Amino acid sequence: MSNSSIPPHILVIGTGGTIAGLTTNLGNGAYQAGQVAISTLLSQINTKFLIKNIQLSNIDSCDLSESLLSKLGAQVREALADSNVMGVVITHGTDTMEETATFLEFVCGGLSRNLGKKVVLTGAMLPSDHPQADGPQNLSEAIQFAGETGSKGGIWAVMGSKPIPALGLVKGHSSHTDAFFEEMLPNDGIQVSSDLPVPPDNQWPWVEIITSHSGARPETITFLENHGVRGIVLAGTGSGTVHEQLAIPLERFIGAGGAVVRASRIGKGHIDGTLANGRLANALAGGSLNPAKARIALQLALFAAAQSGANALSWRDYFARMVGLSRSR
Ligand code: SIN
Repeated sequence: MSNSSIPPHILVIGTGGTIAGLTTNLGNGAYQAGQVAISTLLSQINTKFLIKNIQLSNIDSCDLSESLLSKLGAQVREALADSNVMGVVITHGTDTMEETATFLEFVCGGLSRNLGKKVVLTGAMLPSDHPQADGPQNLSEAIQFAGETGSKGGIWAVMGSKPIPALGLVKGHSSHTDAFFEEMLPNDGIQVSSDLPVPPDNQWPWVEIITSHSGARPETITFLENHGVRGIVLAGTGSGTVHEQLAIPLERFIGAGGAVVRASRIGKGHIDGTLANGRLANALAGGSLNPAKARIALQLALFAAAQSGANALSWRDYFARMVGLSRSR
């Protein structure tokens, strides 16, 4: 599909974040994210590319909703399919950038690689009116990276002059401007995936993250189960280990058809299939996905499984494939 009246360009989608933030009068560096329009941010940078922009939202990304992810997924797919769009840049709050990157990887990573177009997330750690604002440089570099021709497509982030592939993206510091790093995943290499469907607004399966810790209480799991949760990601200790007080109700939840994935609250490293003590033997391992990424992946797997008709793949099939992908990149 193409809109022939618009020459080749990069589409920049504004969603908010500190990159669009403004200082408040509360002092101590306080600011409010998601205040400045994407058109204003773009007017502050130089680029050789023709740019079109869309303001999809202007939020603090701690308020990221499933409805916004649905809209973003549809918008990015439409843009990728437009032959006059060379690449897509998304300005985003840094706090949940990993979740959006994971979502986009699993719903349009294959499409972007097949078309050789990049989708690039960027943001900032300092608000737009800060004297050392890092947003303009990040935005310029993201646009430059998205517009490079002759390179492979895919879902990326550009932060602090570093291009980082979506599934390796980790926010590893809460305040440094150099807050992002790339988690090197095992079995580096490119694999073309078939993309999963984007859940429409209001059809995202309910999945929660539960952290295992000293003094954990079984009532937490019972409460969620009684209120209709479909899946639980365990942010386990160490290698995804789980307190016995959580393991018992989680086993019962799995037995009743609930979906459980084991990740680690450490947020780095790789979680394998089984625990030496045999707990949660019927949960799936989250591989290299940290709990926030595993939660998005589990939602997409549950939704995809619910959509597939006869000869349906289960959520386990979809999730295992995603973990395989996360290990291969
Ligand atoms: C946000 O995530 O929207 C606020 C924090 C940030 O962008 O760094």
